[in-house]
Amino acid sequence: MLFLWVFFLTTLVTYLVLHLCKHGRYYYLGFQLPASPMGFAEYYLLYFGSMENVCKRFIQGYETTRDSYKDDPLKKMARMWFGPKLIVLVDDVDLLQSLLRNHLRKSDFHQLLSGHVEGGLLRENHIPKYQQRKKVIEGASFKMTAIKSYVDIFAAEAVILADKVATTEGQQQTYFAEHPYTNGAMKILQLYMLRVFKPWLMVDVIFSLLGYKKQLRKALEDTRQFADQVIDKIRTKITEEKNGGSGDSEEKSRERSSFDEVEESKFAETEKSNFAEVFIRDQMDPRVPEERKISREDLLDEIQTMIDAGFDTTNMTNVFALINLALHPNIQEEVYAELVNIFGEDPVLTPTYDQLQELHVLTRVIKETLRLYPAAPMVGRSLERETVVGGYTLPAGTTICGIVYAIHRHPKHWPNPEVFDPNRFLPAEIARRNPNAYLPFSVGRYCVGYKYAMLQMKVTLSTLLRRYKVLPGDRCRCVQDIRTEFGMTLRSLPGNDVRFEPRCPK
Ligand code: HEM
Repeated sequence: MLFLWVFFLTTLVTYLVLHLCKHGRYYYLGFQLPASPMGFAEYYLLYFGSMENVCKRFIQGYETTRDSYKDDPLKKMARMWFGPKLIVLVDDVDLLQSLLRNHLRKSDFHQLLSGHVEGGLLRENHIPKYQQRKKVIEGASFKMTAIKSYVDIFAAEAVILADKVATTEGQQQTYFAEHPYTNGAMKILQLYMLRVFKPWLMVDVIFSLLGYKKQLRKALEDTRQFADQVIDKIRTKITEEKNGGSGDSEEKSRERSSFDEVEESKFAETEKSNFAEVFIRDQMDPRVPEERKISREDLLDEIQTMIDAGFDTTNMTNVFALINLALHPNIQEEVYAELVNIFGEDPVLTPTYDQLQELHVLTRVIKETLRLYPAAPMVGRSLERETVVGGYTLPAGTTICGIVYAIHRHPKHWPNPEVFDPNRFLPAEIARRNPNAYLPFSVGRYCVGYKYAMLQMKVTLSTLLRRYKVLPGDRCRCVQDIRTEFGMTLRSLPGNDVRFEPRCPK
C-alpha cells in the first residue's frame, strides 16, 4: 500500500514539475496580472447554485473588481484562474476592442461543444479557412440584395406567430420553441454553459455519470438529423433542375457554382440565394476540383452554426424587447404611432424593406434592448502569441474575455445604466459616447448575421405591435422582476410573462 502511495505521489510530482517547466512562463506572466480582489471562498462559491444565481454572483464579482480598480489606470483588466486556465477579464473598452480586432482565435472553451459542431464559422480556428468561408457565406447569404429578399419570409413567419398569439388570448405566455432542432440545440447550449460555469462538469466521467452525456447524445442526433435533411432537400432540388425539372436552367446553376467567384457572381444581386446551396452546387459540380469542395461534415457544421447562432439570439432579443415595451407603455405608444405613420391602420399589410428602414423609434428600442440584454453576453478570444497590452505581458494561450453584459451597464459610459431608454441611440447621444462601449454584435470576428438579425427583429416586432398592445404579465411588473441567466445567449427565464391585447378586436 505504501509503495502505491509513493508511486502515485512521485508520478503526480513529476507530472507537475514537467508541466511547470513547459508552461512556467504562462503561469509566471499570469500571476503578474492584477488579480480579482474576491476571496478564495467567494471565488469558488461562485459556481454553486442555480445558473441564474451563478450568473448574478459572477457579474457582482466582476463589478466589485472593476470598482476596486477604477482609480488605477494600470488596472484595465483582471485575471482569474479557471483551474489551470488563465482568463483575463478586460474592462477597458478601447483595450478590449483592440484585442478583439487583432486576435481572431476563438477561446478554448468552445471545445466544450465538441461532439456538436466541431467547425463552422463560429468556432473555426484555422484562420485562413475561416476567412475564406466567411467571405463565401457573407457573399451568398448576407449581401444586401439577399437580405432584402428575406423580408417576405420574415413577414410570413411573423404573421404565423401573431396568429398563434391570438389563440393564446387571455393566457399568460413566455414564448415557445417547439421544433426538434431548436429543442435539441437549446439542450446542447444549456449543457455547454453548465460545463463552463461548473468546472467539475468538464471532467468527462462526472459529466457522464450525472446523465448529461446521454442527454447531449440525444440532442446531437436530433440536430444533426435536421441539418442532414436540409442538405438532402437542396441536393434533390439541384438534381431535379439538372434533369430538366422546374428549377433553374443549367446556365444559371453554372453561374451559381464556383465559390471563389461568389463575390462577383451576379446571382446574389438578382435573386434569393443561400450559402448552403452555393457549397452544395460546388460539391455536385464535376468541374470543381475535389480539394476546393466542402466536405459533408463541414457543411453540416456550417448549417448548424448558422441556425444555432441565428435563432435564439433574435428570439431572445424579441422577447426582451416585448417585455420592456410592456413595462414602458409610453415608449410602446411612441413605437405604435410610428408604425401607424408608416404602415397606416391596416395591421396586416406586408412591410417593404424601405418601410422597415423608416422605423427609427423601433430600431432604437431594439438597440437599447441589445444594450441591456445583449444576446451574446460574453465574448472570448484565445491569444495565439504573447501580447503586451496596458503595461502587462499576456502569455500565449490566455483567454481574453469581455463581459459585454457588464460593459453595456458601465456607469462610466451609460448614465443611469439600468434604465431602459431608447433615446440613448439618438444620433446626438451616440456622438457623445465612446463607440467602443457598445458591442452587441462584437468586432473583429463580428456577427455575420447582424443585418439579417436587425431586419428579422424589426419585421417580427412591428407585426406583433401593429396587432397587439403588449401588457405586463402578473409576475413581471417592473424591470427588477426580469429574470435572466447566461447561456450561449442571454436567456429569459420563466416569470418574464407578457400579455397581448388585440388593438383592433374583431
Ligand atoms: C440579436 C441577434 C444577434 C446577436 C446579438 C448576435 C451577436 C453575435 C456576436 C456578439 C457574435 C460574435 C461572438 C464572438 O465574438 O465570439 C456573433 C457571431 C456570429 N453570428 Fe450572430 N448575433 C445575432 C444574430 C445572428 C443571426 C440571425 C445569425 C445568422 C443568421 C448569426 C450568425 C452568426 C455567426 C455565423 C457568427 C460567427 C461569426 C464569426 O465568427 O465570424 N447571428 N453574433
